[in-house]
Amino acid sequence: MVRAKPAFVCQSCGAVHNRWSGKCDACGAWNSIVQEAASAPLPGVSTSRGLGRGRVVVLEGLSGAPDEAPRLASGMAELDRVTGGGFVVGSILLLGGDPGIGKSTLLLQASAALANAGHRVVYVSGEEAAAQVRLRAQRLGLGDAPVALAAETCVEDILATLREGPTPRLVILDSIQTLWTGQAESAPGTVTQVRASAQALIRYAKTTGACVILVGHVTKDGQIAGPRVVEHMVDAVLSFEGDAGRDFRILRAQKNRFGPTDEIGVFAMTGGGLEEVRNPSALFLGDREPDAPGAAVLAALEGSRPLLVEIQALVVPSSLGTPRRAVVGWDSARLAMVLAVLEARCGVRLGQHDVHLAVAGGLRVQEPAADLAVAAALVSSLMGAPLPVDAVFFGEIGLTGAVRPVAHPGPRLREAARLGFKRAALPPSAAEAAQEAGVAALSVATLDALVARLAA
Ligand code: TYD
Ligand code: MG
Repeated sequence: MVRAKPAFVCQSCGAVHNRWSGKCDACGAWNSIVQEAASAPLPGVSTSRGLGRGRVVVLEGLSGAPDEAPRLASGMAELDRVTGGGFVVGSILLLGGDPGIGKSTLLLQASAALANAGHRVVYVSGEEAAAQVRLRAQRLGLGDAPVALAAETCVEDILATLREGPTPRLVILDSIQTLWTGQAESAPGTVTQVRASAQALIRYAKTTGACVILVGHVTKDGQIAGPRVVEHMVDAVLSFEGDAGRDFRILRAQKNRFGPTDEIGVFAMTGGGLEEVRNPSALFLGDREPDAPGAAVLAALEGSRPLLVEIQALVVPSSLGTPRRAVVGWDSARLAMVLAVLEARCGVRLGQHDVHLAVAGGLRVQEPAADLAVAAALVSSLMGAPLPVDAVFFGEIGLTGAVRPVAHPGPRLREAARLGFKRAALPPSAAEAAQEAGVAALSVATLDALVARLAA
């Protein structure tokens, strides 16, 4: 191999610079630039044996293809929901998450389920010895599953191993940061290595039709070559999230070429591995204290799935010049907006108060429909008066103080009715859906109207 001159690669975004500097101009990260041997030709690229390369096919000529991409369903409903019905044959997927969150556990369980269903599954661990993976499988009660295990980090060796015997349906590589290829000169874990290894594995998936799953650790400071550099190369990016101190784990699709990106899968980490949570609303509302002021139940929607979660607010007089605004699980800019609207349109003065807001259960809520529940929780805490136990809240608040319609009120209200809620504070447009669901509608056209009701 020709020795190339060194390059300086940002370990956060993958940008290549020709000299070192403290800050990456491309992504703005500090201290992320590391000297690497310049990128060698990517593996496989130099081979001119074309596999029909560059040949043109006409879209309508593909009509013989099935309507749906062929999929490999794991049988774990929470996982299949997020992928859009199973792993797509010949696709490559990246599963990211903090170390210790349960990525290996999840994939080992999915591997065992598929292997038990008669599919050939290979689990390649670059972090643990095969014996350790087997021990873990035994602890999870999956010791008998016919999953082929390998402990290997060199991509060329992995591909050689995979080519022995029949082509596997599913290949897990745990983790991408441990892989290295002889085609690139830098150390394992650097951007160049991660990218070259991923490239080789993508070619493998596309040419053999195996599903390949890469595991990537996401580190807070981004110092380890971010799996972010492969995000645009893979077909789907799933992230596994949760608090290390809590049992809930949420699986989310950040990118999915073959399915939805707004579905979530909910799991609970137990002594016996990850358990699927079929009824997350009951779980998230599990330890509610009905008489506590400052708690409002939000009827949220994650993808196609309604989910009831408790929004908790604590409003206390501040001893600081600039009062604190602390938010867990919601957008702090959105909280600032709700506070401003409460102040400007409803005369609720919170300028001298510290405000703490949290979504109970460690869930992260993103939709604007949470505005109304947040406002209700804030007002309830400020007044020291609990909200009705049997009420749910949803609605987007505009800067004028108007409560705006939200998408899909029906499923939210049916979920609320199913869990025994009798009333819902909602935008007037959703009143009809409430009637259909058998929930009494408290239509609020403006935030002012809600505040007036709560003060009454
Ligand atoms: P792991 O899957 O190794 O995480 P990752 O691959 O994302 O780094 O999960 C490790 C954590 O999960 C560890 O803190 C222990 C916990 N755990 C359980 O609570 N129960 C179990 O059955 C298993 C296997 C792990
Ligand atoms: Mg692991």
